[in-house]
Amino acid sequence: MKVFHKISDLQNELFLARKEGKKVGLVPTMGALHAGHASLVNHSVADNDITVVSVFVNPTQFNDKNDLNSYPRDLDADCKLIEECGADFVFAPSVEEMYPTPDNRHFDFPPVTSVMEGAHRSGHFNGVCQVVSRLFYIVRPERAYFGEKDWQQIAVIKCLVKYLGISVQIVECPIVRDEDGLARSSRNALLSSDERVIAPNIFKSLKSSTDYAKKHTVEQTHDKVIKDINAIDGLEVEYFSIVDGNTLQDVSSWDDSQYIVGCITVYCGKKPVRLIDHIKYK
Ligand code: PAF
Repeated sequence: MKVFHKISDLQNELFLARKEGKKVGLVPTMGALHAGHASLVNHSVADNDITVVSVFVNPTQFNDKNDLNSYPRDLDADCKLIEECGADFVFAPSVEEMYPTPDNRHFDFPPVTSVMEGAHRSGHFNGVCQVVSRLFYIVRPERAYFGEKDWQQIAVIKCLVKYLGISVQIVECPIVRDEDGLARSSRNALLSSDERVIAPNIFKSLKSSTDYAKKHTVEQTHDKVIKDINAIDGLEVEYFSIVDGNTLQDVSSWDDSQYIVGCITVYCGKKPVRLIDHIKYK
């Protein structure tokens, strides 16, 4: 496995691979890799001749400096896991390499970008689109892999691909959970041992709400999930939205869509750590 820090070095290697007709898969990450990322890399390795994993904590998608500074980073550990999964190239650029000049492009795809994370993290999806579009231009992958944990991000990336008119296939990979149900996330590394014990209650409440939903309205289900989670000391819901899984717009009845998903963001602990998760109702 080769590790590149310079765009030109990576592109030279990719040029050689393409000359041999090889197909390229891209797994964009911000590092602090875990089993969820490993599953994305495994999917790409199975589908493509060459897998590129990018490791870059993208400053333009953070609206909070403390969140950016405290984001876990460990390139050596990341490279070890990526190599174990059988990927070919790691692309770990500096901020200056990715953004030699400030990126002034503005991406907005309402209504998909205006709800949930878009409403609560101003500029977040603009930053995601800036970095992902740059990665697409640099790597020119046939396929790119994203985790369903970031449900809304996948919908935004699909809008981006349409907007850019590029032919990359977006491959959605299922969420990976710990045995107790906690969704795998790089941010879990920031949880104290006490916080790690309460965090699985997020998915526990979401899961039990699927039974509740069978005999209650969308509004009642929505309110119960928030009440149950907020009742646990150390957890505080930022938002919970029950939405059409494709358009991400709120539904008001279980008949409003064929495909309904509950998306949640919860603050855990004193610092606090922001955790996201979702549940499929239909
Ligand atoms: O999902 C992430 O880790 C990031 O948002 C991504 C897609 C790597 C862009 O920085």
